[in-house]
Amino acid sequence: MDFHDKVVIITGGASGMGGATAHEFAKAGAQVVIVDRNQALANQLANKIGTEVRIGDVSDSAFCSAVVEEIVQQYGQLDVLVNAAGIIVRASGEETSDEQWQRVMGVNVSGTFFMCRAAIRAMKPQRSGAIVNFGSIWGDLGAAGVAAYCASKGAVHNLTRALALDHAKDGIRINAVCPGEVNTPMLQSERKEPVTPELLQRLAETVPMGRLADPVEIAQVVLFLASNKASYMTGSLVLVDAGYAAR
Ligand SMILES: NC(=O)c1ccc[n+]([C@@H]2O[C@H](COP(=O)([O-])OP(=O)(O)OC[C@H]3O[C@@H](n4cnc5c(N)ncnc54)[C@H](O)[C@@H]3O)[C@@H](O)[C@H]2O)c1
Repeated sequence: MDFHDKVVIITGGASGMGGATAHEFAKAGAQVVIVDRNQALANQLANKIGTEVRIGDVSDSAFCSAVVEEIVQQYGQLDVLVNAAGIIVRASGEETSDEQWQRVMGVNVSGTFFMCRAAIRAMKPQRSGAIVNFGSIWGDLGAAGVAAYCASKGAVHNLTRALALDHAKDGIRINAVCPGEVNTPMLQSERKEPVTPELLQRLAETVPMGRLADPVEIAQVVLFLASNKASYMTGSLVLVDAGYAAR
């Protein structure tokens, strides 16, 4: 897939699947801008793969509007937005504090919405653009011990559908990729037990194909959804889960 002359914003692009997606877009010739709150990680990756960086928090509406406006002013266009920024809290509903609930909703739901809205306002006058949100298998399936996260990803799924319908006639396609178990810092974060090779093996055994995904296996699907090869796709939630949700 060729993304020469395309301007691509990737939130959460400093790490994990966002990082792999930034790398794949850069290899495909895109002008990539990583938007992330982790300055050290973002700069490290950007230096390696030759992208730009903007530092900020996507749960801040004013930041999202400003960063998109600034990029459009700089490059004259915005072709692709990928919303990969996300956080997880591993707690059951009764254990989840108000602060944890607000934080997960703030980043995963509001952050995705604020960035989508800002991008749509830039893409509509162009009459072209593609947005790929990060949902999850946990956006459709329930899981114990991650109540706020499951709720947030369910919201991202239906936000994706609703926005896709709002803009189906505007030349803007809006889809979501819904990964299964992917080996990233998030997969290993906030666990009550230590992350050992045995724990990772146990997680892999919950997957029908018997292994965790490499982040690049999700990034490849994101590029497809953002490309013209997916020209008849909007409002789709694309599972990339090695059969997890097929049961
Ligand atoms: N790892 C998995 O198994 C898995 C499965 C399904 C879906 N997901 C989703 O995929 C996306 C990427 O996850 P990952 O596993 O690569 O995670 P990760 O933790 O490796 O990367 C997330 C990135 O988002 C950034 N970020 C977090 N909060 C932010 C904020 N408020 N503003 C700006 N940047 C912020 C972090 O700094 C980090 O660089 C997330 O939306 C996650 O919920 C992950």
